Amino acid sequence: MTKFLIKGGRALEGEIEINGSKNAALPVLASSVLFKEKIEIENLPNIEDVKRMQELLDKLDADGRIDYEIAKKFRASILPVGAALARFGKVAFPHPGGCVIGERPIDVFLDGWKIMGAKTKLSKSAPADYEITAPEGLFGVDYTFKIPSVTGTEALIMTAVLAKGTTILRNAVLEPEIKYLADFLNANGAQIAGAGTTTIKIEGRSGKLLNYSTRFIVPPDRIEAGSFAILGALLGKNLRIKNFVAGELSTFLVLLFNVGVEYVLENNSIIFPAKGWSAFGGKDAYKKTLRASNVTTKEFPGFPTDLQAPFTILLTQAEGQSLVHETVFEGRLNYIQDLNKMGSRITLCDPHRAIVYGPTKLSGRALESPDIRAGLAFIIAGLIASGETSIGNIYQIERGYENIDYRLRSIGADIKQI
Ligand code: EPZ
Repeated sequence: MTKFLIKGGRALEGEIEINGSKNAALPVLASSVLFKEKIEIENLPNIEDVKRMQELLDKLDADGRIDYEIAKKFRASILPVGAALARFGKVAFPHPGGCVIGERPIDVFLDGWKIMGAKTKLSKSAPADYEITAPEGLFGVDYTFKIPSVTGTEALIMTAVLAKGTTILRNAVLEPEIKYLADFLNANGAQIAGAGTTTIKIEGRSGKLLNYSTRFIVPPDRIEAGSFAILGALLGKNLRIKNFVAGELSTFLVLLFNVGVEYVLENNSIIFPAKGWSAFGGKDAYKKTLRASNVTTKEFPGFPTDLQAPFTILLTQAEGQSLVHETVFEGRLNYIQDLNKMGSRITLCDPHRAIVYGPTKLSGRALESPDIRAGLAFIIAGLIASGETSIGNIYQIERGYENIDYRLRSIGADIKQI
């Protein structure tokens, strides 16, 4: 079985680029169902979730059947469902799989499709958990999300593009990925107004497919950018992270500043200067300048839940007590037990709150990656720990990060696959 083997304590120097965004690429790939022709996407990250989406779309035919085995591997398999329902008048699919970070229901999607005129049948066994039909077609509606959902907003925008009449989506999320999707669809003939605000208006095309004309260039991954910045904060020695879109990480950058991390923003890069770095191995093993800070995850523009685990690693090196409040998912602090085995002192108060007491020295050990983001957090922990860390179940990390070991080696990290 493949694992990452990490030896901690090396400074990270030089330049590293942020790759294309997973969560911007996936909805645009799914939107190909709305098109008459094939679509072109540039800067697509070569990661497992993108490969699964391509396989899923390759297998999708006019029966609207979403492949059971593939869909069980990732949450974003729900993304093409609404488009398939609108295009074929029927769709059958399993409850989507993905990271085990909470319950992850799909009720806001189902409510939306039902209100638009679809009929839902549950079967709860392979090859489909849900069978949805829309014999009369789908109709534009005024729909308010009872809970703001990222993929929910994306899926219902795509459904509405082929519905009859105007749809208004209220309490929509503000994540940048929504605007990327809407801009791409608009550039190819759709009429979507208000993406990036809480109210989105879509003029339905009554089943008329879009004609492809304009390619999508996948923007840099803001979560990879934030994770690499945390590495820069802990280990950077004249480290430049390129393709860094600061405007998408403003809350994160304020927190980094509060913790006392020194960084410079320059020409789409973030730079971690040499003077902030303190050598590993001696009694000054960790920076003493870092200060504890509380963090609460929120929908955009709040602090992203996808950066909560990597940020907690940073907080283990900060002086004082930090409260980590995870408000989006109830299972996203599960990695803390393993982190404590590496030497951190973190008290889990309840499924949503943890108190980090710092600074603590971490030491390497054998870990398994629980999900994409906690997996990357373990890599960060391994890189600052003394001794050797091994991380198994790396499929979870490769779902979201392309060639991560190779790229981190290029800036000086001691990480390899065995
Ligand atoms: C997206 O997941 C991202 N995935 C997640 O990234 C990210 O953590 C999350 O948004 C929040 O930012 C993709 O973009 C592919 P939600 P999504 O629906 O859309 C509840 C990663 O590592 N909810 O916005 O699945 C839900 O339980 C992944 O890249 C319902 O109650 O998240 C959660 O508490 C992990 N009913 C909250 O809403 C529903 O029908 C927000 O979830 C849907 C969601």
